[in-house]
Amino acid sequence: MKNLLFTCAFTLGALTAQAQFVIDVKTQKPGAPVQPTMYGLFFEDINYAADGGLYGELVKNRSFEFPDRLMGWEAFGAFEVKDDGPFERCPHYVELRWPGHNDRHSGLSNNGFFGIGLKQGEEYRFSVWAKAPQGNAKIAVQFIDRATMDERQQFAETKIDVNSADWKKYEVVMKSTRTLDKAQLRIFLESRNTVCLEHVSLFPVNTFMNRQNGMRRDLAEALKDMHPGVFRFPGGCIVEGVDLPTRYQWKNTIGPVENRPLNENRWEYTFAHRFYPDYFQSYGLGFFEFFQLCEDIGAEPLPVLNVGMACQYQNWNNESAHVPLDQLQPYIQDCLDLIEFANGDANSEWGKKRAEMGHPAPFNMKLLGIGNEQWDDMYYKRLEPFVKAVRAKYPNIKIVGTSGPDSEGEMFEKGWKAMKSQKADLVDEHFYRNEEWFLSHGLRYESYDRKGPKVFAGEYACHGKGKKWNHYETSLYEAAFMTDLERNADIVQMATYAPLFAHVEGWQWRPDLIWYDNLRMFKSVSYYVQQLYATNKGTNVLSLTMQGKPVAGQEGQGGLFASSVYDATTDEVVIKIANTSGEQRPVTINLQGIKGERTARWQRLFHGVMDAENTLDHPTTITPQQGETACTDGKNGIILSEQLPPKSFYVYRVKK
Ligand code: AHR
Repeated sequence: MKNLLFTCAFTLGALTAQAQFVIDVKTQKPGAPVQPTMYGLFFEDINYAADGGLYGELVKNRSFEFPDRLMGWEAFGAFEVKDDGPFERCPHYVELRWPGHNDRHSGLSNNGFFGIGLKQGEEYRFSVWAKAPQGNAKIAVQFIDRATMDERQQFAETKIDVNSADWKKYEVVMKSTRTLDKAQLRIFLESRNTVCLEHVSLFPVNTFMNRQNGMRRDLAEALKDMHPGVFRFPGGCIVEGVDLPTRYQWKNTIGPVENRPLNENRWEYTFAHRFYPDYFQSYGLGFFEFFQLCEDIGAEPLPVLNVGMACQYQNWNNESAHVPLDQLQPYIQDCLDLIEFANGDANSEWGKKRAEMGHPAPFNMKLLGIGNEQWDDMYYKRLEPFVKAVRAKYPNIKIVGTSGPDSEGEMFEKGWKAMKSQKADLVDEHFYRNEEWFLSHGLRYESYDRKGPKVFAGEYACHGKGKKWNHYETSLYEAAFMTDLERNADIVQMATYAPLFAHVEGWQWRPDLIWYDNLRMFKSVSYYVQQLYATNKGTNVLSLTMQGKPVAGQEGQGGLFASSVYDATTDEVVIKIANTSGEQRPVTINLQGIKGERTARWQRLFHGVMDAENTLDHPTTITPQQGETACTDGKNGIILSEQLPPKSFYVYRVKK
């Protein structure tokens, strides 16, 4: 019904002669610089974003460290889980013995993350730590299709001779002869001699940047294609954990992957209505890998560390759930050590660990978040000694504090006040709000104090009322709202949409930027909004007004939101304009100061169905379209006239 009404309004709008919406852009005077950190990404291991998502590992519970040691595995024949393995912090492994009959087998099958996705013709690197305590043993490694009607379940197989009584790593590359999103990995014991198996791993050879222990290529490429300015990691609420023992501990995520201890993932059970008992953090995608990824995709790294607090939602007003004020030193030390890990000399204690992992050059980290979404005095009191210690040792590091989970109100104000008095460099604001909120906050940042900390819009998304998914309408309102981020470049220095990834079979939170199953992925409309901003962010803000006022959905502005920047790298003027109304809007944009013949190139998002979305089966239902509009000469500059379709978002570029 809504869409029908919308279509009628469109037709009517097109037929009725309307007043022009006249917009003035002063191109002669480039204003505040747009920070290179604008329009970035926020990564949190939620929705199977790391294990089962970006991290290329295809085997779940590869080290048998899940509390249920064989979760994700089917073990058969004669087997035993033991705990005196070669890796101190991951001590469990499986011993396979001859079951005593020739036709009976001992072995293991792994189900991956919602299955193992394999592609025909692609190569996969299988590796395992193994020993044969009774003398040489043999295993067969197979790719399995359990649902097949064929004679054999296996469609690829290789044999490995385990020829040492000591633990040793064995590695083999296997080619898949099928494309299957729910394959299994099976290992048979083929000898009478016992074999012990630990850290059983399978990665595509073709990872992003062809790295071992690398990222799933299609997902990492989607990150790079967004041209993000900043990359915030590793959360989100997992920074805090539901209690302190389950908080994210970066020091556990570096060094050899075999010895990185397992951590609980709070998103396993945070929402009982989206419950995933097999959701843990292997830490295979750890801080080294995050820094490396930032370098690969050209984003400024923004690690967020724990401030000595467990998640406040789970521990409402419970001071005793957090670290006592006089015992914060190890947490503060974690921050100082992280800076040394990222930036320190290769001979320093922590810099050496980075160098040993293959990156002797510093990562040049400039930003540090302390605390995720903390609020009230218990946070402000704890933050203080962190700020003092970091400032004293690393005065050039920019500290990002937080105003908590509210987008306004008493606690939000209190948070900002505290961040000002502690002289945080940036304040991380979060707002997951509905359509009305986004449409009515087009002037959010105009009134912010210019003398205090800068703004980091660290997590935001339009949560459609009653429909929290990535449909077209909410993404359009995000685009409209973002004109305010752009307009206030003097104070808004970073912005990251949230969250980033979601597995279609394992999500807990939506909307998200990128969705996938084991073989395919699609970019949401919100992804394209972010990408349009990131790739058209320009270098300096330009004044853009309608009758002297900012264009922010104000009264008389016909639901239009707009902003403009100058791009010194290409000498172009960029104009972003969203028509959030259900009617076509005749718009005249005066580009003051530009003379002569010009054609504006545009990209737009436009779709007539507000609930439409991209999906795995239809990944390109809504993608940016391109076109050109000729400009005409005017009194003070050229004029760009357009009939803006209802519910559309345009980005224009005009040579200056
Ligand atoms: O993005 C999901 C969650 O939303 C984050 O973990 C938290 O910071 C916010 O509340």
